[in-house]
Amino acid sequence: MAKGKVDALLGIVFGDEGKGKVVDVFTPRYDVVARFAGGPNAGHTIIFEGKKFVLRSIPSGIFDEGKLNIIGNGCVIAPDLFMAEAIELETAGYDLKSRLHISRRAHLILPTHRVLDRAYEAAKGKNKVGTTGKGIGPTYSDKASRIGLRVGDIQDNFEQKYQALKARHEQILRDLHFTDYDITEEEAKWMEGIRYMSEFPLRDTEFEINQALAEGKNVLAEGAQGTMLDIDHGTYPFVSSSSTCTGGVCTGLGVAPNSIGEIFGIFKAYSTRVGSGPFPVELFDETGEKIRDIGHEYGAVTGRNRRCGWVDIVGLKYAIMVNGVTQLIMMKSDVLDTFPTIKACVAYEKDGVRTTEMPYDTEGWEAVYEELPGWQTDLTQMTSPDQFPQAFKDYIDYLEKALERPITIVSVGPDRAQTIER
Ligand code: GDP
Ligand code: IMO
Ligand code: MG
Repeated sequence: MAKGKVDALLGIVFGDEGKGKVVDVFTPRYDVVARFAGGPNAGHTIIFEGKKFVLRSIPSGIFDEGKLNIIGNGCVIAPDLFMAEAIELETAGYDLKSRLHISRRAHLILPTHRVLDRAYEAAKGKNKVGTTGKGIGPTYSDKASRIGLRVGDIQDNFEQKYQALKARHEQILRDLHFTDYDITEEEAKWMEGIRYMSEFPLRDTEFEINQALAEGKNVLAEGAQGTMLDIDHGTYPFVSSSSTCTGGVCTGLGVAPNSIGEIFGIFKAYSTRVGSGPFPVELFDETGEKIRDIGHEYGAVTGRNRRCGWVDIVGLKYAIMVNGVTQLIMMKSDVLDTFPTIKACVAYEKDGVRTTEMPYDTEGWEAVYEELPGWQTDLTQMTSPDQFPQAFKDYIDYLEKALERPITIVSVGPDRAQTIER
C-alpha cells in the first residue's frame, strides 16, 4: 500500500487568513486533521448551516464525525480554555472524546505563564509585541529551557510538578516587581480543566499519525498564526513563539519531511496584521478603514482592530519560498468588491534603496505599489470561476504570475459554501 501524505495548510501572512474555514472545507478529503503549533492565541472561525464557531486549540476538522483530530506535540494547551472550548462544542452536539486525541508531548500553559506574558509585555514599554496574553511566549520559553510541564505529566505526580513550576514563576514575577495579580479563581478553573482534559485520549500521537500514514491514510496539518509571525522567519521580535512554517509541521507532529505532500499557502486578497511590529503595506487612511469595516477585521481572540493594507507580493513570495508552497488559496476576495482600484505592493523602498526580497529588518520600509482596476461586482453569490468578472480574473492572473504558483481556491464569503475551486 502506498504511504499516505501529510498536506499542510499554512497561513502565509500575519495570521487570520481564513485557515479554519478552509480546513473545515477540506476535512472530508482527509482521515486525520492535526494542529502542530500554537495554542489559544489562535482563533479559527468556521461558519456553516447558520452556525458559527471560533476554535482556539481544537482542530477545525472536528465537525466531521469519523475523522480523527489531533492536538500535536508542537502545540501548547491551556486546560481551562480547552475545557470551555470543548464544552461549547459538546453542548452543540459534537462528541469530542471519540474523535480528539491530545499529544502527551504538548506543553501546558499555566495560569502563571499568562501572568508572565503580561509582566514581560509591561516591561517592554513601547516595544510591546502586543501578544494575545495567553501565555504563549513564556510557555514555549519554558519548553526550550527544559522546565516545562507536558500533557503527559498530568498522569504522574502532577500536583508536585505544578507547584514547583508555579513557585519558579512567582519568583520571576517578584524579581520583576510584578506582584499585583491574583490567580486564585483562575487556578481553580485550571485544575478543573486538568481533570476534564484527563478524560480525553492523551496519546503518543506521533505514533498514531505515522501508523495512519503507513496504512495509506492522509493527514491535513492545520497551521496556526502565519509565516510572518514565525519565531525564525517572521518579523522578529514582533512574532509569536512557535514554528508556523512547513518545518514546524515535521517537528510539531513527529512526521518526516518526505511524508509532506501538498503545501497550501493561504492569504487574503489584501493584508492584515494584529499586534505591533512593522507592516509596510499598512494604510492609515479611509481605504484602510473601509477594508477593516467591510472585512470585519477585528481579532477573533482579543477583539482588537486588525491593521489593514493591500496585498504584499514581497511578503508572499518570501513565505512561498520558506514554506515550499505548492498551491495558493485566496480568501475574502468579496471584501474588495466595491473598490474602484486595487493595489499590490511589488517592492519595498527605504533611503533610496529598493528591494523585492524580504529585508532582515522590515522597520522603516515603504511599500511600492502597482495599481489594477477593481471589479466592482458582488462576488458573494458566485459558485463557479466562469461567473467571475474579467477584472477579478485579471487580478487572479496578475497574482499567479507574480507569485509563480496557481491559485486553486478562491473564497467569496465566510460560509463553508462560499468556496470556489478553480
Ligand atoms: P484563521 O485564524 O486563519 O482561521 O482566520 P480567522 O477566523 O481569524 O479570520 C478570518 C475571518 O474571515 C473570519 O471571521 C471568517 O469568518 C472570515 N472569512 C473567511 N473567509 C472569508 C471570505 O472569503 N469572505 C469574507 N467576507 N469573510 C471570510
Ligand atoms: P490565527 O491562528 C493573528 C499575534 C499577536 C501578536 C503576536 C504574538 O488565528 O491566525 P502571542 O500571543 O502569540 O505571543 O502574540 O502574534 N498572533 C496572531 N495574530 N492570528 C493569530 O492566530 C495570532 N496568534 C498570535 O497578535 O502580535
Ligand atoms: Mg484567527
